[in-house]
Amino acid sequence: MAGRPADYQNEIYLQGLGGQVPPFTTNPNELEESARGRLGPGPFWYVAGGAGAGATMRANREAFDRWRIVPRMLRDATIRHLGTTVLGTEMPAPVLLAPIGVQSIVHPDGELATARAAAELDVPMVLSTASSYSIEEVAEASGDGARWFQLYWPNDDEVCMSILDRARKSGFRVLVVTLDTWTLAWRPHDLDQAYVPFIRGVGTAIPFSDPVFRAGLERSPEEDLTSAVLRWVPMFTGTDKSWERLPFLREHWDGPIVLKGILHVDDARKAADAGVDGIVVSNHGGRQVDGAVGALDVLPEIAAAVGDRIEVLFDSGVRTGADVIKALALGARAVLLGRPYAYGLAHGGEPGVRHVVRGLLADLDLTLGLAGFRGVAELTPDALRRF
Ligand SMILES: Cc1cc2nc3c(=O)[nH]c(=O)nc-3n(C[C@H](O)[C@H](O)[C@H](O)COP(=O)(O)O)c2cc1C
Repeated sequence: MAGRPADYQNEIYLQGLGGQVPPFTTNPNELEESARGRLGPGPFWYVAGGAGAGATMRANREAFDRWRIVPRMLRDATIRHLGTTVLGTEMPAPVLLAPIGVQSIVHPDGELATARAAAELDVPMVLSTASSYSIEEVAEASGDGARWFQLYWPNDDEVCMSILDRARKSGFRVLVVTLDTWTLAWRPHDLDQAYVPFIRGVGTAIPFSDPVFRAGLERSPEEDLTSAVLRWVPMFTGTDKSWERLPFLREHWDGPIVLKGILHVDDARKAADAGVDGIVVSNHGGRQVDGAVGALDVLPEIAAAVGDRIEVLFDSGVRTGADVIKALALGARAVLLGRPYAYGLAHGGEPGVRHVVRGLLADLDLTLGLAGFRGVAELTPDALRRF
């Protein structure tokens, strides 16, 4: 990314002199509504909706609201250092793009647009197993960009090994294994519309382009979509997994491994004891267990328990620069941005993702400086007060 993240602010104001305004809102509270105007109800609610009554989504935001930044003055924070390295991946700010599946439902370019925007900004992208484009296609769009691969751990070991092999060959460096979605939760917004992309063959590009998966089919997905879907859907979320199975992944993945969806401190300890390299403290954006704890509420205890042994990443509810600051101050090494960039994608594809991510990074850069910090490394719980 050329220049400093905060430069986006000047760029916007300068363009205003020529009568130009940003392509869509910079206001985090209006972004979702703006995307709603661009999407049909099926895709919109697939992104915006959560499990059950939405209690966990609300808990995620309430957890952020309980913490407030206490700004410090006269600390010469003119130049800020946002850059960091996580598990060997350098990044200009402690922000990655979370794995979001089926992105073609919000824009036809889907993951390709996200990969291009991420690569241009040097922000690492985590590609979902439920991608609308193949691993190889996304890698090509990503070019020199940093990329991690998120695994929904298939029950079929041969298919799993083949997918991991493709990811590694395509330059994905870190494996993120999502544990909280071994079956889909009760999601009323999707149920009321009888809408789920996978059974329509959307978000299945990775298995459908996989030679081992295809070899197990009597007819190809192009000839018989329904049979291919019926074979993939029960296989891909990994229903038969336990802690004892983790060595299998270590055997078949030679890079760092991160477990996503950890909320209990004992599970965080188990992850560290099992020898994984990191965890993502996450409740999947409130899409899985309705009534679950806000992810930020459990971050401090988890970071305190395992932060010195493994990398603790965080997602679920990050919307602003201030949110990134709070998560880092409470022990996260980096955060994953979720829904906001999907809403950006809905606004014209690649430029939309770029606008949202640049906006978040500018907000982070400015808020950090105004709060008196010269770098993300300076953030500790002392930066915050709980109310
Ligand atoms: C539409 C959508 C699809 C998602 N797909 C995946 C996925 O394929 N794999 C995964 O690990 N997480 C997936 N997630 C969860 C995100 O990685 C992340 O945990 C979540 O979006 C964080 O919550 P937030 O967006 O409210 O901040 C998805 C989230 C959304 C909104």
